[in-house]
Amino acid sequence: MQAVAIVLAAGEGTRMRSSLPKVAHEVLGVPLVRWVVDAVRGAGIERVVTVVGHGGDEVSALVPDTETVVQNARLGTGDAVRAAAGALEGFDGPVVVVAGDVPLVRPETLAALLGSWRSAEAACTLLTAFIPDPTGYGRIVRDDAGSVTGIVEQKDLTGAQAAIAECNVGIYCFDARSLFESLAHITPANAQGEYYLTDVVALLHGQGSRVTAVALDDAGESHGVNTRVQLAAVGRILQRRVNERHMLAGVTMTDPDLVWIGPSVTIGRDTIIEPMTTLTGDTHIGDGAHVGPGTRVSDSTIGAGATVDQSVLRGVRIGEGACVGPNAFLRPGTVLEAGSRVGSFVEVKNSTIGEGSKVPHLSYMGDATIGSGVNVGAGSITCNYDGRKKHRTVIRDGAFIGSDTMLIAPVEIGEGAATGAGSAIAKDVPAGALGIERTQQRNVEGWAERRKAARDDE
Ligand code: UD1
Ligand code: CA
Repeated sequence: MQAVAIVLAAGEGTRMRSSLPKVAHEVLGVPLVRWVVDAVRGAGIERVVTVVGHGGDEVSALVPDTETVVQNARLGTGDAVRAAAGALEGFDGPVVVVAGDVPLVRPETLAALLGSWRSAEAACTLLTAFIPDPTGYGRIVRDDAGSVTGIVEQKDLTGAQAAIAECNVGIYCFDARSLFESLAHITPANAQGEYYLTDVVALLHGQGSRVTAVALDDAGESHGVNTRVQLAAVGRILQRRVNERHMLAGVTMTDPDLVWIGPSVTIGRDTIIEPMTTLTGDTHIGDGAHVGPGTRVSDSTIGAGATVDQSVLRGVRIGEGACVGPNAFLRPGTVLEAGSRVGSFVEVKNSTIGEGSKVPHLSYMGDATIGSGVNVGAGSITCNYDGRKKHRTVIRDGAFIGSDTMLIAPVEIGEGAATGAGSAIAKDVPAGALGIERTQQRNVEGWAERRKAARDDE
């Protein structure tokens, strides 16, 4: 039977000292709860129920691909799982329960947990870890035969239990019926006055049901996030995990500690990523590209052999061999066709720059369609906004825009046409024509000498 997962994300996360719910905090551009849901999905579990509470709407919006249920009062992890009971009414297959604040858990680990639960035919299989400093974790209690008999929370430890090194990771696989039947019997008679999910383990063992445990190979996967210090620590681990995957696949990073890459980014072979660069969201980079230093790319595609230096790219597509920067700002809807170039201090928004075309210096191109082989001179600008509406500028193939041209949209520059430097062009320029709009230059002969003479007289 297909497994379902319950992700617990109702906690407030007081220790984050934040107006944002804890699980909404991001690592590498991805919210904590999203890492967990993606790991669950990666383990082949399709149906996911997310338990939300504090900041529920905000959290639900981060996991629109899951069913959300609300835990009204935060009465403990057992109560949180109970909140999902209604949604899972009638389901009697395996239920994987995961906390929403453990972003390091790997899909393979969840799949192995599920596999172990299946082969043991257990009522509950839990994930454990041997953690050097187990403070704060629930401890696994075993009998002389080595069977798990229960879990004791840190605050409820007695005597020798404090020495137990095996910890509860907070990730379990239950048989649905055993889980929900036991949850009806737990009580808040403990040090924290909470309904503990962990109490289900002793109840199941007590009634003779099988409880098994799988120890994590890498205890590091159990790291949760309770503070911003832990958020940064977990971020560093995920950063290394992602970067190592890319380096082993043929990407060069001159200093991987200074490169931050989101989990869904893809990068081709022999691409070089320089320091102080972040690549996030739905970003894809081809082979042999050179990105950074000092570059921020989100939701963008960069073609093979392209160069992006010290620039910001959001929602753009850069063709093969195109060249960007230094200091360019490319905003959503921008397309740079193959071999084109956008140079320093250039901003482009919702525009296409055709094949081999160049906008090399100090320009703003907004809502423009630029053909191939066009040169846009330094300081040229599209005046695309009249204060109420945006208008398009069209520049046909092979046109030459003189430096400091104001293109007052809507306006079209024909194929092979040119504009005179310093012109404010408000009317279309036909193909092959020169559009020039400036007063005649007048030279005043002998002016400098006359001025000097006038000053000498003072
Ligand atoms: C829990 C386990 C502990 C384990 C540890 C691992 C219990 C009682 N204890 O403790 O054995 O070692 O995780 O990290 O389960 N949550 C809700 N609603 C609630 C309470 C919690 O949704 O009413 C969510 C939190 O948002 C969080 C998760 O459940 O994502 C775990 O809750 P938390 O309070 O952090 O449990 P721990 O004390 O860490
Ligand atoms: Ca916790």
